[in-house]
Amino acid sequence: MACALALTGGTLLASGHEDAAGELDAALHLTPNLDNGRKVFQLCNVCHTPEGWGNESGMYPQIAGQLASVTVKQLADIRARNRDNPTMRPFTSPQQLGGVQEIADVAAYIAALPMNPSNGVGAGNDLAHGEQLYKDNCVDCHGDRGQGDEKDHIPLIQGQHYRYLVRQFDMIRSGQRRNADPKMAKQIRRFSPRDVAAVMDYVSRLKPPADKLAEPGWQNPDFPKYSRKPMPHTPIYGRPQPPRPQR
Ligand code: HEC
Ligand code: HEC
Repeated sequence: MACALALTGGTLLASGHEDAAGELDAALHLTPNLDNGRKVFQLCNVCHTPEGWGNESGMYPQIAGQLASVTVKQLADIRARNRDNPTMRPFTSPQQLGGVQEIADVAAYIAALPMNPSNGVGAGNDLAHGEQLYKDNCVDCHGDRGQGDEKDHIPLIQGQHYRYLVRQFDMIRSGQRRNADPKMAKQIRRFSPRDVAAVMDYVSRLKPPADKLAEPGWQNPDFPKYSRKPMPHTPIYGRPQPPRPQR
């Protein structure tokens, strides 16, 4: 098994939809190893933070608590270039991340991380409108609480940072996010800026169930030595750099 997987790492990753679909299918049939998932996560915590909570600016999404099948699909899409993510893509190469087993492992680790109890939210001044839009346009796919769907790899969106939600929404609508769901893109085509702000504010305030939420101030005990100081504002190559990982 290990041998076969090592080989797929190299051959499946050329590019394109078929490769991503093949990896998705393969990873979903494996038994994840959480301990290895924790090791692989050392690659991710630099940007997504050791808690997997991302940040309010919307640059780095919260990934903690995401359904495993969704994380697997996004990783496969990003490395097959079906979803552009130049910042993260180098970390998803077979050399850095590994093969489908590593993808399955890290996705399971991330799914089990407790979620941010105080994610970034919107202005809070148009929530009734947001709720109505959500009920009319989103519930069928993302669920009444934004909990997503493991089987159809529809993302959990509850409790995500507001600014990241708005950014993805715009990217999905404009077609810039190439792995977007075409039905969703169609559904949201006519949303006005007010609609987008209202529905995403509503989504960002949908609380995950208590058993998925962390206590305020929780720090991931798997990474006790990680420096959680705010990012330095020294521009290197013209943009802020994430802190260095600690092993
Ligand atoms: C260098 C920074 C960086 C590293 C390292 C990184 N990511 Fe990301 N990741 C990002 C950025 C930026 C985005 C958002 C991209 C966008 O806006 O579309 C993202 C998005 C994602 C998404 C999509 C989230 C969603 O809601 O659709 C997943 C899943 C993800 N990362 C998982 C990982 C995993 C797993 C690792 C480690 C193997 C990792 N990332 C390492 C920067 C990084
Ligand atoms: C027809 C089903 C469908 C409908 C309707 C739909 N979505 Fe989606 N949505 C999806 C799927 C599937 C994805 C993931 C696409 C992918 O990357 O594979 C997604 C992705 C997203 C994302 C990006 C999540 C992330 O983690 O990056 C957001 C945000 C989102 N949807 C919000 C909404 C909102 C708000 C509505 C209603 C206004 C909506 N969607 C309606 C199916 C749907």
